[in-house]
This record gives sequence, structure tokens and C-alpha cells, in this order.
Amino acid sequence: MIAVFPSLATRAADAVEEMDRPDADLQRLERTYAQFWLVNAVVSGWRRNYVRYLRPIFAASGGGTLLDIGSGGGDVPRCIARWARRDGFALEITAIDPDPRAHAFASALPALPGLSFRQAYSSELVAEGRSYDVVISNHMLHHLAPAELLALLADSRRLGRKLCLHSDIERSRWAYALFSVGTLPFFPGSFIRADGLTSIRRSFTAAEIAEVTPQGWQSLQQRPWQNLLVYPPFARGDDRRAG
Ligand SMILES: C[S@@+](CC[C@H](N)C(=O)[O-])C[C@H]1O[C@@H](n2cnc3c(N)ncnc32)[C@H](O)[C@@H]1O
Repeated sequence: MIAVFPSLATRAADAVEEMDRPDADLQRLERTYAQFWLVNAVVSGWRRNYVRYLRPIFAASGGGTLLDIGSGGGDVPRCIARWARRDGFALEITAIDPDPRAHAFASALPALPGLSFRQAYSSELVAEGRSYDVVISNHMLHHLAPAELLALLADSRRLGRKLCLHSDIERSRWAYALFSVGTLPFFPGSFIRADGLTSIRRSFTAAEIAEVTPQGWQSLQQRPWQNLLVYPPFARGDDRRAG
């Protein structure tokens, strides 16, 4: 059954995703982490982000360092590690998630050269004085309250030397309807469909995220279902867009 269409007029900031519940069923949670790659492959556009934004930065010095915040099952950093390797870059990726269950799942998968996982908040890395060429996140911002979002963006500016790129779902009726129908026959035994719909309800619209994003950041509506926050902003003809 397709869920009754909820009002998406305002952000459902109080709606809780199943995966965020401390008592979530571990088998379902792990199946959810294991299935994120499919959702990301279809909706997230990280290959495009890699080619357009990341590759030119790594190409300039033959590699570099990247931090992924809220890495969940770890499939986005794993993809980036493979693409960078194929391009001949020496890239060191740190993927962090504060949830011990996500960390345990991601770090139990076969190791990839240059990719390490750590259970941590971005604030811990700031306190340790760490920095990375590039800081990214995927589908993480909607988990945060507005004050947490500002703190996360401040952390990522401190941690990211060259580029910060945060991609998240945009709340829209289209996104909700397409995700609801598109995932209906799939993902049994996981939280993907229920949490995906909750995520859309929790997400910002393009206008809302532009309003809360601090000055200096660029807020782009990448596709009709995706917001992208970029620091520093891209100018037209910016060479990081090449590739
Ligand atoms: C929807 S999952 C996305 C996982 C992964 N980035 C992906 O795209 O498949 C959101 C992840 O963000 C993590 N998260 C929630 N709050 C966070 C915070 N304040 N800092 C870092 N990660 C957080 C959660 O533990 C969860 O693993």
C-alpha cells in the first residue's frame, strides 16, 4: 500500500527515522546499511559530484585527503575510493559516523586501500586539529536540527581546506511520490522505504536550506530532489567544474 500522502508544507523535524532509534532491530538496520548503495546509485549522483567537483581537485596534486561525515554503510566513500584509484590518485579517505552500529557495519566490510572508518563526530576531529582537502556528506543534513546543521557546517569549514560538499534530499511532493512508488516492491526487511519517506519529510526545501545556510556557502538545487551545499562557491567557468 502507498502511504497516505502527508502534508509536506513544513519540515517534519520531529519525525524519527527507524535507523536513528537506539533499539532499532539490528538485522533490519544492517540490511538498511547494506542497501544504501542501491538508493545512492539511483538518486544521489555521486559519480557526477566526483567528476565535476572532486576529480579536478585531486588531479591537481595527484591525490589528497577526503572526509565523509555520517558515512552510514560506507558505500559513497567506497565508490569514491575506487574511482580515485582508477584515476591513479593517491587518495586517503576517512569516513566517520557517530553511530556505533554504522561504524561496526562499515568497518567489517572488506578493506579498500586508502579508506578508513572511524566512530566519531566532526567536532572531535576539529578538537584534534585535523584537516582534509575535501569534506563531504550524503543524506546526513536532514538528520540534524537547525543549530546542529550550523555547527556541522562550521566544523566542515574548519576541517575542509579546499572544498566542502554536502548533498541531501530536497523535500518535495515529487520526491515523496517517486520514492514511495519506486521503492514499493523492493527493500523488504529493511528501513529503506519507511526511513526514506521520513527523510523526505524531515528534509529542507531548496528555499529553506538557502535561508539557513550561512553566508559564504552556495546552495544549489542539483536535481528536483536534491540540495547541494558548496563551500567555497563555484563561479561560472570555475576550473573545478571541468572533467
Ligand atoms: C541516512 S544515513 C546516510 C548514510 C550515508 N551517508 C549514505 O548516504 O548512505 C545518515 C547517517 O548520518 C549519521 N549521523 C546522524 N547524525 C550525525 C551527526 N551529527 N554527525 C555525523 N553523522 C551523523 C547517522 O548515524 C547515519 O549513519
